[in-house]
Amino acid sequence: MTSNTEFQAWRVEDHDGDFQGAEQTLNTADLPEGDVLIRVSHSSLNYKDALSASGSKAVTRKFPHTPGIDAAGEVVESATGTPAVGSQVIVTGYDLGMNTDGGFGEYIRVPADWCVTMPDGWDARTAMIYGTAGLTAGLCVQKLLTMGAKPEQGRVAVSGASGAVGTVAVEILSNLGFEVVAISGKADKAADLKELGAAEVLGRDALAEEKKPLLKPVFANAIDTVGGTPLAELLKQILPGGSVSICGLVAGAQLNTTVMPFILRGINLLGVDSVEIPLADKAAVWHKLSGDWKCAKTEASARDIARKELDSALKAFLKGESAGKIVLDHAKA
Ligand SMILES: NC(=O)c1ccc[n+]([C@@H]2O[C@H](COP(=O)([O-])OP(=O)(O)OC[C@H]3O[C@@H](n4cnc5c(N)ncnc54)[C@H](OP(=O)(O)O)[C@@H]3O)[C@@H](O)[C@H]2O)c1
Repeated sequence: MTSNTEFQAWRVEDHDGDFQGAEQTLNTADLPEGDVLIRVSHSSLNYKDALSASGSKAVTRKFPHTPGIDAAGEVVESATGTPAVGSQVIVTGYDLGMNTDGGFGEYIRVPADWCVTMPDGWDARTAMIYGTAGLTAGLCVQKLLTMGAKPEQGRVAVSGASGAVGTVAVEILSNLGFEVVAISGKADKAADLKELGAAEVLGRDALAEEKKPLLKPVFANAIDTVGGTPLAELLKQILPGGSVSICGLVAGAQLNTTVMPFILRGINLLGVDSVEIPLADKAAVWHKLSGDWKCAKTEASARDIARKELDSALKAFLKGESAGKIVLDHAKA
C-alpha cells in the first residue's frame, strides 16, 4: 500500500551543531499530514537548499529534515481528487523543503493547493531545470510586461545576470525580442551570456555607487536580482515611465535611494515573490515557460546529479562555485 512505502531520501541531521546530510530509508507513513502524496522523480538545486542543508535556522528550524524547495513527479494518493492520482505535478515554494520534507526525498506529502498540474507536453525533469529560479525569472518578466514593457522602448538591464534567476531572465527577454544588457561581475561569463541572447555585457561597475540622485537614463526597464547598492544605482538609470522587477538581495537587503527617480521620472519598482503567491499565478508562469517563453539554451545546458552527489553540489553553492542549472534525478545511481 502506498501510504506505507519505504523510500530513499537525502536527510540532514543535526549532530550538536554539525549538520550532516546522507541517504536514509524513510517510510511514507512518516511524512507530514497532507492531501496529496507525490512520487518525486526530480528536484532542483537552489541556494536556499544549501542553507537548509547547512543548518540555517532562517530556512529550517527542526532537524532531521529533508531539504528540496522544488519537486516534480506523479500523484500516487489524493484525498481531494484534485490533482488526480496518476497526474504529473510541480510543487515549488510555500513551506516545501523548509519545515516540510522536500524534494530531496523520493516522496513528499503536501496540501493540494501547492500542486501545479504539469503543462501539456512537459515533463518533470524539464520543469526542474527551471525550478524556483526559473519561475522567479518568469514572474519578473511577467511583471514588466504587465506594466507595458515593450522591446521598442529600449534596452532592458538584468543584474546578477550569470546567476540562476539572471540567466533565465536574459534568455526569456531575448526570446521576446528585447535588447538585453546583462550586468555581471564575472567577465568569464560574458560569452555565455551573449550566447543566451544578451546584446551587451557590462561589469558590475555599471552600477557602482554614485552620489547623484539621478544619472543619465539608459535602460527602459530592468530586472534586478541583487538588491542593495546596485539596485539603488539601477533606479537612477531608468528611462521615464520604466519599471524594475526585483527579487533578490545578494548585494544587500538595504535599499538606500531617494524619491527622485519615482517622482521626476515616474518609474515603477515591482516586487516579486515566487514562494507564497497564489497557485494560479505560479501556474500561469509555468505554462509560459513550457510554451512561448521556453529557454532552449538553458534546457540544453542543464546537468543531472544523483542523491549521493548532493553533498558536494550544495557545498559548491554555499561557496558561490556553482554554475548552470542542476537537476536532482532520483533514478540516477
Ligand atoms: N523573491 C523570490 O521569490 C526569489 C526566488 C528565487 C531567488 N530569489 C533571490 O534572488 C537572488 C538571485 O537568486 P539566484 O538563484 O539567481 O542566485 P545565484 O545563482 O547565486 O546568482 C546571484 C548572482 O548575483 C550576482 N552577485 C553575487 N554576489 C553579488 C554581490 N555581492 N554584488 C552584486 N552581485 C552579486 C552574481 O552574478 P554576476 O556574477 O553575474 O554579477 C551571482 O551569480 C537571491 O538573492 C535569491 O535569494 C528570490
